[in-house]
Amino acid sequence: MIVGVLNQKGGVGKTTVAVNLAATFARAGRRVLLVDADPQGSAMAWSSTREAEPPFSIVGMAKPTLHRDLPRIAKDYDVVIIDGAPRVNDLGRSAILASDYVLIPVQPSPYDVWAAADTVALIREAQVMKETLRAAFVINRRIARTAIGRDAADALSQFEDVPVLAAALHQRVIYAESVARGLSVVEAAPSSEAAREVEALANEILAAPKRKAA
Ligand SMILES: Nc1ncnc2c1ncn2[C@@H]1O[C@H](COP(=O)(O)OP(=O)(O)OP(=O)(O)O)[C@@H](O)[C@H]1O
Ligand SMILES: [Mg+2]
Repeated sequence: MIVGVLNQKGGVGKTTVAVNLAATFARAGRRVLLVDADPQGSAMAWSSTREAEPPFSIVGMAKPTLHRDLPRIAKDYDVVIIDGAPRVNDLGRSAILASDYVLIPVQPSPYDVWAAADTVALIREAQVMKETLRAAFVINRRIARTAIGRDAADALSQFEDVPVLAAALHQRVIYAESVARGLSVVEAAPSSEAAREVEALANEILAAPKRKAA
């Protein structure tokens, strides 16, 4: 399964979600490849900060030919996670077409909700060619004990074909701290709330219903 963690908007948590999902799938015993499809190379930089080898393979492929190149490489893995680039349409299109499932991180802010329309438009365009392509939103940086996450989820329900997942990642210092150390939250704090919420996200993605080709 190829999971693209994509959003045309910058700074929403694509790399954070991608790295932590990759580590969580790897911890569950799956063969995982993380593809850094962002010319900024954030996921590659994360892996070079590490002392130990990452628990999954990682490769830099910021090319608009990703959808053609990736299927051949993906055969050797159970799960491939793409860390997408913001703002670049040809890379974004290619990463969407390469994916079986697009996960769109959004922060609980009206700006993120408004900007989501751009990414949804690219997904709908891709679904014309690839009918089985699935997509979902995940709320990232949800703030505990506030209604803002709920409000964002309600606002996102305007995109009827793209569900909001029940699993959400909260605003937690450990996400930023673990990245700085080249770690994932499941490595830095395996029994933390953060590790549990990423695990719930991974399980929800695996359980997502398939889309039938017409
Ligand atoms: N759930 C969270 N809790 C706390 N900090 C977070 C969380 N998610 C992301 N961050 C922080 O927000 C910043 C942006 O996150 P990240 O780099 O993952 O976003 P991005 O979408 O990959 O950005 P870009 O578009 O530049 O690639 C980082 O400093 C990261 O540590
Ligand atoms: Mg990034």
